[in-house]
Amino acid sequence: MSDTTPDPSPEHKQEQEQDPVQRRPIKSFVVRAGRMGSGQVKALAELGPKFVLPFKAERLNPAEVFGRKAPVVFEIGFGMGDATAKIAQTLADTDFIGCEVHAPGVGALLKHIDERGLNNIRIFQHDAVDVLEQMIAPDSLDGVHIFFPDPWHKVRHNKRRLIQAPFVAQLVKHIRPGGYLHCATDWEPYAQQMLEVLGAEPLLENTAEAFAQTPAYRPLTKFENRGIKLGHGVWDVVFRRR
Ligand SMILES: C[S@@+](CC[C@H](N)C(=O)[O-])C[C@H]1O[C@@H](n2cnc3c(N)ncnc32)[C@H](O)[C@@H]1O
Repeated sequence: MSDTTPDPSPEHKQEQEQDPVQRRPIKSFVVRAGRMGSGQVKALAELGPKFVLPFKAERLNPAEVFGRKAPVVFEIGFGMGDATAKIAQTLADTDFIGCEVHAPGVGALLKHIDERGLNNIRIFQHDAVDVLEQMIAPDSLDGVHIFFPDPWHKVRHNKRRLIQAPFVAQLVKHIRPGGYLHCATDWEPYAQQMLEVLGAEPLLENTAEAFAQTPAYRPLTKFENRGIKLGHGVWDVVFRRR
């Protein structure tokens, strides 16, 4: 995580739940010490300067960053970036801004970018909640992807889940009217929470009766394939901003 992180705005401070013991905002992630492979280190050194954007407390101009005016999709927690790269290759006319705090994941996505010759992805190695609040203009995103967010299984950790009403209310303001929010999870209680929280947000409407068919652009990840073979379920939730 960058050490240039500014204090959240007073408004943001109020919105974020505080950890009563540590007295700081509860985060949806824990930064793990992960080993970077040599390919990831190389990708970071060579491609990082072009594709990894510095977090700054100022508005991003996607048209300037990507050198064109195109629909913009924001992704929270791309993991190792497999799905991100495949989707960006399929939807070549869309630009993707991906946030991930785990350094090996950033290196892995840079490798995919290189191997596939992609130019429509930019990365923030930073808390997506801050990037959204500080850098993304209101009503500007065509879509938001949140695929397999950390499920925080234990009840005492549920408060770390990303999909909660205060964050969704903040997130949805950055989506343009008609733009979409697509979440997927393999943890049924979290899938139910997604339906409830998004269903209760007045600015969102469900595109399906309840859970959605997996949209054609979302590829199955290795992890998901393995789960499906073991008989585990996967739930997609797709809402649209009114
Ligand atoms: C369970 S993984 C799923 C990764 C990927 N989307 C996939 O489908 O394989 C969730 C990821 O979200 C990242 N993450 C969680 N909260 C985040 C946040 N606020 N900002 C950026 N990344 C976050 C974590 O570091 C983790 O890599």
